Amino acid sequence: MNSGIFVTATGTDVGKTFVTALLVKKWRDAGVNAGYYKAALSGAEFRDGKYVAGDAEYVKMIAQLPDREEELVSYVYQEAVSPHLAARKEGNPVELSKVRADYARARAKHEFVFVEGSGGIVCPIRYDKQKIFLEDIIKALELEIVIVSTALLGSINAAVLTVEYARAHGIGVRGVIFNRYGDSEMERDNRQMIAEIARIPILACVAENAPKIDIDVKAFQ
Ligand SMILES: Nc1ncnc2c1ncn2[C@@H]1O[C@H](COP(=O)(O)OP(=O)(O)O)[C@@H](O)[C@H]1O
Ligand SMILES: [Mg+2]
Repeated sequence: MNSGIFVTATGTDVGKTFVTALLVKKWRDAGVNAGYYKAALSGAEFRDGKYVAGDAEYVKMIAQLPDREEELVSYVYQEAVSPHLAARKEGNPVELSKVRADYARARAKHEFVFVEGSGGIVCPIRYDKQKIFLEDIIKALELEIVIVSTALLGSINAAVLTVEYARAHGIGVRGVIFNRYGDSEMERDNRQMIAEIARIPILACVAENAPKIDIDVKAFQ
């Protein structure tokens, strides 16, 4: 199962959702029926009497997705903590069989699906008698990853560790997308150093408040 890409990042709040929304929009504007899927979201916002999956709502709005929000995320937790801890407190732990089935449904509706991860590359998704890590979801969906990173101070360490962790766990890495990229001397150097040290293509650089992403729509073929 593929025809999708898994979007992870060097950490939480680095811009997976922001960048994924631009990617889905770019693909759709280019005539590809692209979709979005996220296995587990924590920190849902309570609004108008229900919990709203913010990431899915944002991508749906930016990329004008026809899907209902509930189809876009399998597990929604209220507390803004790692899914394994949220599930321990709230119940409803992640089942890989449901993630597989929901992703397959997304794939049946869309030519290409962008799958957003939770947190960074090391993220316990379920940790009770059964143990599921983010990498198990990536492998279950037979996807490769793209890594969203900043290009600021500390990025060489975070980006290279993310690439090498993924590779050590048998996950293919397609490239890095820099977010909030300002093109300062340090950012340009970080970009070049990350590409060289991790031997990885830099697929795009997204500026603060960018309305679109400059990337080849064949980048993940
Ligand atoms: N390039 C950007 N320009 C402006 N705001 C951004 C940008 N990237 C991320 N943000 C904002 O930063 C916050 C965290 O980004 P988000 O995409 O939600 O991160 P993640 O999905 O990795 O947790 C959000 O409020 C988002 O709107
Ligand atoms: Mg997100």
